[in-house]
Amino acid sequence: MADKIRVLLNEEEVDRRIKEIAEQINKDYEGKAVHLICILKGGVFFTCELAKRLTVPVTLDFMSVSSYGSGTESSGVVKIIKDLDQPLEGKNVLIVEDIIDSGRTLAYLIDILHKRNPNSIHLCTLLDKPERRVKKQVKVDYTCFTIPDEFVVGYGLDYDQKYRNLPFIGVVEQQ
Ligand code: PRP
Ligand code: MN
Ligand code: MG
Repeated sequence: MADKIRVLLNEEEVDRRIKEIAEQINKDYEGKAVHLICILKGGVFFTCELAKRLTVPVTLDFMSVSSYGSGTESSGVVKIIKDLDQPLEGKNVLIVEDIIDSGRTLAYLIDILHKRNPNSIHLCTLLDKPERRVKKQVKVDYTCFTIPDEFVVGYGLDYDQKYRNLPFIGVVEQQ
């Protein structure tokens, strides 16, 4: 049976908020270039929407990590499936994620990326679920939306790999 999905944040709300965050980033990085690191797969839709609205010079790289397996609970084991193509030395890195949940993925990533000597590392996420945080040291610099502890899909977020392409944020309702 098809899953029932309730809209939590509609397309217009999401687009408007991404525009605001992009304007903030343009101000904060004025006179500098920003190196966006998209965390695949979830971060891909948000990265594209955000990058289109940045007016500071942008370069892009991608990293694929997985912490979830096929369940809905973070396992704590983060696996690098695809590493970055380019070095980070001297760059102003902005990590772009779809969601920060337990914070395990980012705690691990920030540790390894720091060792590559970037000029700075900041973190930008579409969604944040602070109630679920296990790794309290993960500080988010740019958050589009803080949401309650519900299982969300769309805009890159999946349920068993499905629904990433929805142009809004939805909650999968228990049947
Ligand atoms: C999800 C999400 C974040 C991470 C957040 O990715 O996209 O990257 O989990 O969870 P955490 O804060 O508890 O670590 P996932 O591992 O499901 O891979 P995906 O992006 O390919 O769906
Ligand atoms: Mn992810
Ligand atoms: Mg996932």
